[in-house]
Amino acid sequence: MDETTVITGIGELITNDGEHGTLRDAALVLDGDRVAWVGTASTAPPADREVDVEGRAVLPGWVDSHTHLVFAGDRGAEFAARMAGTPYSAGGIASTVHDTRAAGDDELRATVERLVAEAAAQGTTCLETKTGYGLTTADEVRAARIARACVDEVTFLGAHVVPPGADPEEYVHMVCGPMMDAVAPHARWVDVFCERGAFDEDQSRAVLLAGIERGLTPRVHGNQLGPGPGVRLAVELGAASVDHCCYLTSAEVDALAASETVATLLPACDLSTRGPLPDARALLDAGATVALATNCNPGSSYTTSMAFCVATAVLQLRMSVDEAVRAATLGGATALHRTDVGVLRAGARADVHVLDAPSAAHLAYRPGVPLTHAVWRAGTRIR
Ligand code: NIG
Repeated sequence: MDETTVITGIGELITNDGEHGTLRDAALVLDGDRVAWVGTASTAPPADREVDVEGRAVLPGWVDSHTHLVFAGDRGAEFAARMAGTPYSAGGIASTVHDTRAAGDDELRATVERLVAEAAAQGTTCLETKTGYGLTTADEVRAARIARACVDEVTFLGAHVVPPGADPEEYVHMVCGPMMDAVAPHARWVDVFCERGAFDEDQSRAVLLAGIERGLTPRVHGNQLGPGPGVRLAVELGAASVDHCCYLTSAEVDALAASETVATLLPACDLSTRGPLPDARALLDAGATVALATNCNPGSSYTTSMAFCVATAVLQLRMSVDEAVRAATLGGATALHRTDVGVLRAGARADVHVLDAPSAAHLAYRPGVPLTHAVWRAGTRIR
């Protein structure tokens, strides 16, 4: 039988569960890798072990639904040039493709493991990552295999950019055919960078449909660098999520609100590219489901900090603390079609984040201060 742990002394417990909502003076029981019980401290059942968190706030582990961790190389110089005025463009991806192809498997795996560990130490317990810096069939399969061994969710992003020297139509044909066939068994999702400088609407639709034919579920990078067809296409094809969403018309906001497609916002990327911030208020006020993610990658957003994204969402996107925390937990889970994470209720995966603060408001009230006190992932204490 699994050992049970009761976490007591919870000052504020954010469950994201309709029945319990946010509780004060709460307790939580973990049984093996699952949550067994949630409620007020005075009614907590006995357990094998007790951990008293002394009034701290507890929330579900962060669900980071958008990262690009399988890469080699460093783009610090590109970042510095951007901060000195050079605009961000999709073209920088090619330099990471060059370095990633040249790297050995062990180096790539070590980078993914390092970043997953860095994220976990800050409370991230469920993480998606994408291929997309290989862009040959062999390199994309390699990236998917490495990702699969290290993270919860793997996305095939062979349509990240057209690699240098390749013919765009021939490349799309390959992505939709042999490359997709080879990578699909190692991935759950198919993604496309639907943007000027990457893939147009027809090319993007072809890639997503080819993925759907092979059992992958679509997600889209859209409307990051300018207005475009990404959101429309994502809604049309029932994508789980459309990510970036920095340039939205009110019709696109309404279309997202009327759909099951999550609008995933990546504020660390927008700051790091000096791009416009998305209109989170318009999306939330229209009733769209919003997720927050880091977009950790070496070019446009080199951070694993979900807490930074939450603080930015509150301070700059005008989201409330409750909205931002929900977007970074349940929103990410919804964007990944997961019902077992991003929530603390009986039966959920025991992914628990204890803050060194009495309430989640401190995530934005004390921006930049590391506030992770303890983390359980699938019932195992990892910090
Ligand atoms: O989500 N937009 C496309 N892909 C990444 C950028 C990756 C890079 O610049 O290396 C993104 O921002």
